[in-house]
Amino acid sequence: AANAMWGGRFAAGPAAIMERINASIDVDRRLYTQDIAASRAHAAMLVATGIITAEDGDAIDRGLETILGEIDAGQFKFSAALEDIHMNVEARLRELIGPAAGRLHTARSRNDQVATDFRLWVRDAIDQVDAGLAELQAALLDTAEAEADTVMPGYTHLQAAQPVTFGHHLLAYVEMIGRDRGRFADCRARLNESPLGAAALAGTSFPIDRSMTARALGFERPMANSIDAVSDRDFALEFLAAGSILAVHLSRFAEELVLWCAEGFHFVHLSDAFTTGSSIMPQKKNPDAAELVRGKAGRVIGGLNTLLIVMKGLPLTYGKDMQEDKEPVFDAFDTLALSIAATAGMVRDLEANREAMRAATAKGFLTATDLADWLVRVLGLPFRDAHHVTGTLVARAEDQGVDLADLPLDAMQAVEPRITQDIYSVLTVERSVSSRSAFGGTAPENVRAAVKAARERWA
Ligand code: ARG
Repeated sequence: AANAMWGGRFAAGPAAIMERINASIDVDRRLYTQDIAASRAHAAMLVATGIITAEDGDAIDRGLETILGEIDAGQFKFSAALEDIHMNVEARLRELIGPAAGRLHTARSRNDQVATDFRLWVRDAIDQVDAGLAELQAALLDTAEAEADTVMPGYTHLQAAQPVTFGHHLLAYVEMIGRDRGRFADCRARLNESPLGAAALAGTSFPIDRSMTARALGFERPMANSIDAVSDRDFALEFLAAGSILAVHLSRFAEELVLWCAEGFHFVHLSDAFTTGSSIMPQKKNPDAAELVRGKAGRVIGGLNTLLIVMKGLPLTYGKDMQEDKEPVFDAFDTLALSIAATAGMVRDLEANREAMRAATAKGFLTATDLADWLVRVLGLPFRDAHHVTGTLVARAEDQGVDLADLPLDAMQAVEPRITQDIYSVLTVERSVSSRSAFGGTAPENVRAAVKAARERWA
């Protein structure tokens, strides 16, 4: 049978395979709240501008409210033959209120309708992601505060480099996540314009009030160009791009958690709640949640790639290719929400193994830079010379199998005669971290101040 929406021009219905490739209802049913809200705003505007009667407007509004209740309650029967959420809702409206349902689509197209619904959905998604990230920051801040004095090796090239505090290391992620929140906020501000009323692509000859529907839906203003309004999906791309960067941050942190749990580190214990055992090796406690956060970043980045590739060759305006825009966004959102919550949970539960971290700082000559700095400050050596002297001292210590702090004074003086006993005062890791108190440095007092500042900023 020909289609109820456009059957006028068609003698026959679609092939079964056409129906399957064409239908998006299994994906875009997630837009139902937004679709119904946008339709109610549109109907109210059509009444206010005299385009439809108040009577029809009322019937439409009550019908849509009923449908919202039906879908909320899981009682709605979605049909693939009706393609997408927009036509499923409209067809049900016709069942409920009769021919007046046909007036809802005046001065509107599915092209501006879907762009509107999707913007509203992404806006909600951003608000949820932001709330989750605030939670994660709070967890990191609490842990950073508790570990402000905990020394650990800081790494470059995954080689022990200089002592840092664990709190300072965790605060690095608070900063990254702060910028992630900023990126999502920027995306939200840019997407918050209404496509509704752009109609199919050219606008409409009906005397609609696009500002009214924009306001009703919480948009800042109507989009200025009808062609742009139905053509672009840059808001979805921005969401995926911000999400991909966030996913990379979460993945790097997850990778560090995995490392920190591993043999040779044992810097942290993850709780039973966020680890799993092995079905064969009774001793195992595996950091699966962290590994999954690391792995799931691939899905989010993949989603960004998917949509970039869908969009890149499309002539303006709408092309059905664009129906492929929602699945990567929905999946990225679900994945991020899960990853954020799992990361916050791991942080809340983790126990820092302060002894192991402290012990690791005793290997690798981590205070070599402090020694070189002493030669500069006390003896007035140029830093390059100090670097060379220190390198020689490290080689001597290595030969003797001792740390720099345990290299005897006469061995030091054999390399640089002006070295005095005072040099040992800078060779402890505690002294090393507490000396790095210039703004942004790892000193415990800085960590405490940064926690306080971050709590105020992100509260
Ligand atoms: N389901 C479609 C989508 O998600 C809705 C827009 C359809 N517009 C059209 N001209 N066929 O893109």
